Amino acid sequence: VSPPSSEAGAPATGPGRPSRDPRAPVGVFDSGVGGLSVLRHIRKLLPSEHLFYVADSAQVPYGPKGADFVRARALHIAEFLLDQGAKALVVACNAATAAAVATLRERHPWPVVGVEPALKPAAARSSGVVAVLSTELTLGSEKFGNLLGRWGSSVEVLVTPCPGWVALVEQGELKGERARELVQRQLAPLLRQGVDTFVLGCTHYPFLTPVIREVVGPGAAILETGEAVARQLKRRLTAEGLLSPSEELGREAFFTSGDPSAVEAVVRRLWGEGARVEHFA
Ligand code: DGL
Repeated sequence: VSPPSSEAGAPATGPGRPSRDPRAPVGVFDSGVGGLSVLRHIRKLLPSEHLFYVADSAQVPYGPKGADFVRARALHIAEFLLDQGAKALVVACNAATAAAVATLRERHPWPVVGVEPALKPAAARSSGVVAVLSTELTLGSEKFGNLLGRWGSSVEVLVTPCPGWVALVEQGELKGERARELVQRQLAPLLRQGVDTFVLGCTHYPFLTPVIREVVGPGAAILETGEAVARQLKRRLTAEGLLSPSEELGREAFFTSGDPSAVEAVVRRLWGEGARVEHFA
């Protein structure tokens, strides 16, 4: 049995196969609305790409769930995006990247770009202690263990799951007393331990950056990965001849496994008023 191939002779597209049309959309997904923090960087860097975004809101949060469950969801969403005609996939979720990126790459010959906590730049800039803020699934993964082994030896690295933060963002509650209280509770002990660099290892957390900044003060660095992911996507699309040649602006389409009107209200707050969210099963 030969693996799926995009080489001459093999059918390049078809049901369940990635599109080879440069005008096809890029699929992006997350457990919920967190991946919009990545999508905004993609939109900025690649204005003419069509971007199809899936929020798996019926299953959010992924963080406390098992890797097998999250991998199954990732494969299901990838098939949906393929059916929508996607040419490439961005896993805009650290937990789903840890659980599923290798499998997603094996399944189909398409560019698959994942996210991982920005430990390398953090280690390069910190003068002592780095904190990685993420979810249980990411922090407990083999992938994160490898990252830590590779970049975590020149600095002290503290890892912290941040319960409740994903729910704040899912509810569009980005400021106010409750948000500040939850962020403060998690970060105060880290500040006492001398952390000077905070790595946002969950794509929901960049939406809480203003509150995090208030709590950690102006001196500490807060690192996210969205821009690096957008650059990597651009490199991969370019290398595969899949970059959109259009001079017109691309459009976005949003899908959710949850309640479309509830999710739409939050997407409008985080993305913009024009956003419309459709249901997918
Ligand atoms: N936004 C996701 C991440 O980057 C996961 C959040 C969650 O569902 O637990 O890890």
